[in-house]
Amino acid sequence: MPDRFLLALLDAGVVLAVTVAGLWAWRRWHYRSFWLVVGYPLMAVSVRATWRKVALGCGLTKKRQRFWFTTVPGLVSSTGTVRVKRRFQRVAVDTKPWMWLPMPTRYGWRVTLHTLEGQTPDDYSAAAERLAHSWRVHAVRVSSPRPGRVVLAATMRDPLLRVDEIPPSSELLKVTVGRLETGRPWEIDFRTVPHWLNAGATQSGKSNLANVLIVGLAPQPVALVGFDLKGGVEFTPYSPRLSALATSRAECVELLDDLVGLMADRMSLCRQAGARNIWQLPPAVRPVPVVVLVDELAELYLMADKSEKDEITKTSTALLRVAQLGRAFGIYLFCSGQRIGSDLGPGVTALRAQCSGRICHRVNDPETATMTLGDLDPAALVSARAIPAETPGVAIVASQDGQWYRARSFYVSEHAAERAARMYADLTPSWEEITSGAQPIEMTDDDLAQFLTPAAVIPEPRKG
Ligand SMILES: Nc1ncnc2c1ncn2[C@@H]1O[C@H](COP(=O)(O)OP(=O)(O)OP(=O)(O)O)[C@@H](O)[C@H]1O
Ligand SMILES: [Mg+2]
Repeated sequence: MPDRFLLALLDAGVVLAVTVAGLWAWRRWHYRSFWLVVGYPLMAVSVRATWRKVALGCGLTKKRQRFWFTTVPGLVSSTGTVRVKRRFQRVAVDTKPWMWLPMPTRYGWRVTLHTLEGQTPDDYSAAAERLAHSWRVHAVRVSSPRPGRVVLAATMRDPLLRVDEIPPSSELLKVTVGRLETGRPWEIDFRTVPHWLNAGATQSGKSNLANVLIVGLAPQPVALVGFDLKGGVEFTPYSPRLSALATSRAECVELLDDLVGLMADRMSLCRQAGARNIWQLPPAVRPVPVVVLVDELAELYLMADKSEKDEITKTSTALLRVAQLGRAFGIYLFCSGQRIGSDLGPGVTALRAQCSGRICHRVNDPETATMTLGDLDPAALVSARAIPAETPGVAIVASQDGQWYRARSFYVSEHAAERAARMYADLTPSWEEITSGAQPIEMTDDDLAQFLTPAAVIPEPRKG
């Protein structure tokens, strides 16, 4: 008899061990299906079951008057003990926000809540970290699709620890440069957001992002132009695919002059055809789009001695003009830098206002984050400062929709970018070809008003 009992116990133990090992292997080798079939249902039940406690702990409940059965003191019996009795009466109870069923996502789950009276999405953003700890998830992000609703998106583990390969670009001027925290692709689309600021401390992944862009844009019918005042160390290896490269201040002034002349030329072309931008021109006469990559923006504005003052003023004015009119004439800016602060002069502040795409890699000081991301949600600034040095390429991305995302670029080594530059060298339009016919016409204020892009959507940082 005990033998049979022991055998049954052994059998049960073996079955349990095999099940646990099977589940472990399933989770290890195909996390997505494991998550959908096993992890998500368990999590959905537990999130719903504990929501009252969690909402109470995170300060998301409100007191409301409700009719409730409560115990109230009754008669005092002869022994001196107070007898209680239940009564149906109005009392103040803690009410939790109504929660829909959590839905699975690629890296976790998301759930819609109905806000309680007096609550705003900011109340939920402020509690996001507390919620993440209560649910033991990597992060909780808050968005509000419409008034009265908030969506909490929880990620179980950091999806940006490892990001996969760069996919080929499918559309002109659009490059998938990495992955967003939500699992969606991180795209830089110059036709939607024409100018970008890319800030970050040293070794934070700024140049890597420029490499991704070079690899993504090299096979496309676009002209690439580089400004590299670090002596050309960053961009010179990519020169086979660059139509022009400026590595000294004098070259910068000359190249920017060319770009302004090019814009004037394209402006008269558009005017003759009655078009408001080059995209309204027939494809046969449409000029080639130009993507301008600037490495270390501050170098363009820093003065070594007084003699450079004029050149810097010229550079600053021309760059601003390119930013103002670039969208209409197919000239797009991608400016990288460690510092993009107002201490570099008013030119930088004005340029920043024109760049509606903002990318903030790891930063050491809060000012750079504020300057780059503008007056976004303070949580974005906190996130930017919390990016660890061990994950270069992770950045906070702000775009025209006013939303911000945590994202990571694909890793593209200098060798890979160099290889792409050489492979597509025959697609490089020569600078003479592009600028032939470009005349340095002065632009009047009327011209500017006609083709000016709307001001950047991202608000500037608050003063004071
Ligand atoms: N997305 C990424 N994934 C993995 N590693 C990355 C990523 N981006 C950058 N790195 C690593 O970080 C290193 C530094 O990146 P990068 O040269 O782009 O920094 P940077 O911000 O341009 O620095 P600097 O200001 O000194 O020029 C790279 O050599 C690379 O090894
Ligand atoms: Mg760099």
